[in-house]
Amino acid sequence: MWTSLWLWPLVAICAADLFRDEAVRILQEKPVIDGHNDLPWQLLKQFNNRLLDAKANLTVLADTHTNIPKLKAGFVGGQFWSAYVPCDTQNKDSVKRTLEQMDVVHRMCQLYPETFLCVTDSAGIEQAFQEKKVASLIGVEGGHSIDSSLGVLRALYHLGMRYLTLTHSCNTPWADNWLVDQGDDQAQSQGLSAFGQRVVKEMNRLGVMIDLAHVSVATMKAALRLSTAPVIFSHSSAFSLCAHKRNVPDDVLELVKQTNSLVMVNFYNDYVSCSSEASLSQVADHLDYIKNVAGAAAVGFGGDYDGVSRLPVGLEDVSKYPDLIAELLRRNWTEAEVKGALADNLLRVFRAVEQVKNLAQIPEEEPIALEQLGGSCRTQYGYSAAPSHHASRALLAALSLPLLSLYLL
Ligand SMILES: *[C@@H]1O[C@H](CO)[C@@H](O)[C@H](O)[C@H]1NC(C)=O
Ligand SMILES: *[C@@H]1O[C@H](CO)[C@@H](O)[C@H](O)[C@H]1NC(C)=O
Ligand SMILES: [Zn+2]
Repeated sequence: MWTSLWLWPLVAICAADLFRDEAVRILQEKPVIDGHNDLPWQLLKQFNNRLLDAKANLTVLADTHTNIPKLKAGFVGGQFWSAYVPCDTQNKDSVKRTLEQMDVVHRMCQLYPETFLCVTDSAGIEQAFQEKKVASLIGVEGGHSIDSSLGVLRALYHLGMRYLTLTHSCNTPWADNWLVDQGDDQAQSQGLSAFGQRVVKEMNRLGVMIDLAHVSVATMKAALRLSTAPVIFSHSSAFSLCAHKRNVPDDVLELVKQTNSLVMVNFYNDYVSCSSEASLSQVADHLDYIKNVAGAAAVGFGGDYDGVSRLPVGLEDVSKYPDLIAELLRRNWTEAEVKGALADNLLRVFRAVEQVKNLAQIPEEEPIALEQLGGSCRTQYGYSAAPSHHASRALLAALSLPLLSLYLL
């Protein structure tokens, strides 16, 4: 009796180590695909995207949640790098800045070819797994990045965008954001406007995943109803565990289940515990909860590293995934369930999106209505209200001719 009591803590420690060993074994076979990482934003803020700055060297980069040694220690094998530009770029230089954030991801892959492999499809992710590299994909975070243009949407697709978050924390002229549900923004599109519906359909046609992190519940439901392919929440947690409007409510989790969609859980303390402090175990609670409501096939990871200021104790940077996997194993997740959350669920959704993709279908052409566009620094070429450059010159000439003849008299 004495000995067994005495031994209990030791047994507990050994068991903990066994779960972590098992996590590492699983991760060696199936690395994690994370849905959302803001390292490109850090590179802009800290180095103005100068990757050759000695301090920006991704092997030694120190003040970020993400660098190459941490990615390796965390068994990160796939990453959707966020091409994020803040909402104050809307109607200004959002497109230019988005292009620059996409460019910096491409340059990361070029500068560190031993570590990153830029890919654009599910087969590419598996190729990177084989080569033990980080499959690098681009998610554009916020519909304002397309500046209400289907032409820009298509151009970003051609540059490698494979998901678009329909809004960031601001409405676009065609989709409402989560601040509407909080009462801080006015509803504008009641979910998705007619043009917003065309954006979603065009994303289906292109094979760009629809990301519903940051959108209002009405937008979530509209997109889930309209999309012919499963959708993702690239970095959102469960509303029932933390009633923050950035999280996913139960009735939407039900739709996620019905559509074979995916919620990649966000680690930001404020969305995990609704307070400034949180723990690894509370993140596991969100994973457990979504698994219970929507099924194990609906769970993934979207850490939001380098996009947030506070992270749970035990999940401080991207090297900590094995500890989270160990916790799921401790909670009796099966190996198949863990592998689903790590990579298989995202791969399933991505393949379904690729199945629906149909580039042979005629692209959508109908532009947004002129009166729905905001901003004063925008030209209006192409809209009938705005005469074309040549037409306006001809008009001027026509007007000035009679004047000229008057002068001649
Ligand atoms: C980054 O630093 C490492 C270690 O000092 C060095 O080997 C590597 O060449 C550097 N890479 C770049 C792109 O500067
Ligand atoms: C996990 O399964 C074991 C064995 O069936 C059981 O004793 C334990 O209570 C379960 N743990 C949890 C957290 O469900
Ligand atoms: Zn975000």
